[in-house]
Amino acid sequence: MNEIIQSIITRRSVRAFEEKQIPDEALHDILEAAKFAPSGMGKQAWHFAAVQNKEKIQELITATKEVMKNSPIEHFRTIGNNPEFNPFYAAPTIIITAYEKDSATGVSDCAVALENIFLAAHSMEIGSCWIHILAFAGNDPKVRSILTEFGIPENYEISGTAALGFSSKEAPKAAPRKEGTVSIYK
Ligand SMILES: Cc1cc2nc3c(=O)[nH]c(=O)nc-3n(C[C@H](O)[C@H](O)[C@H](O)COP(=O)(O)O)c2cc1C
Repeated sequence: MNEIIQSIITRRSVRAFEEKQIPDEALHDILEAAKFAPSGMGKQAWHFAAVQNKEKIQELITATKEVMKNSPIEHFRTIGNNPEFNPFYAAPTIIITAYEKDSATGVSDCAVALENIFLAAHSMEIGSCWIHILAFAGNDPKVRSILTEFGIPENYEISGTAALGFSSKEAPKAAPRKEGTVSIYK
């Protein structure tokens, strides 16, 4: 098995981070990896907002948790009301992905860009996790005003967010792969 496939297989979601920030060059390369993901008709109708400002991330968490507290989904209400809960697991860097509202392939475009982000990070021993909550909370007026400050265009929908940083715990083991999810027809 070659190095790239090994890297794909050994990537795991990381949910505990050191406070230490990732180097600027690493952030640059991770964003390059995102920009070079495939996109529907090559339109690149996406935006990647990297945020490293601790106070602003906290502001975003507070606004997001307010939305969660009022969610019709009980699980969201429960974690939104938990003062200990940090949806980004205190990652020092987050990259919020967003796509143009009218884009036919925006959700998929952001998903492949996110996987590029995770794999690029993993190749530099930086941990990562997909965080989905902003895809639900991104149109709340308070949350949106913060996202606008981060440079996300108003007519863009939020997709996943990548939490990034050096892992403070040993990576968890991968769950066993389900049987029967692949077929080969020759
Ligand atoms: C679309 C999507 C949404 C996810 N949302 C979250 C999330 O909000 N919070 C979280 O901790 N993990 C989230 N994850 C990470 C998954 O829980 C994780 O990928 C899965 O448990 C498999 O673990 P692995 O990434 O280590 O292989 C998400 C993953 C995907 C693909």
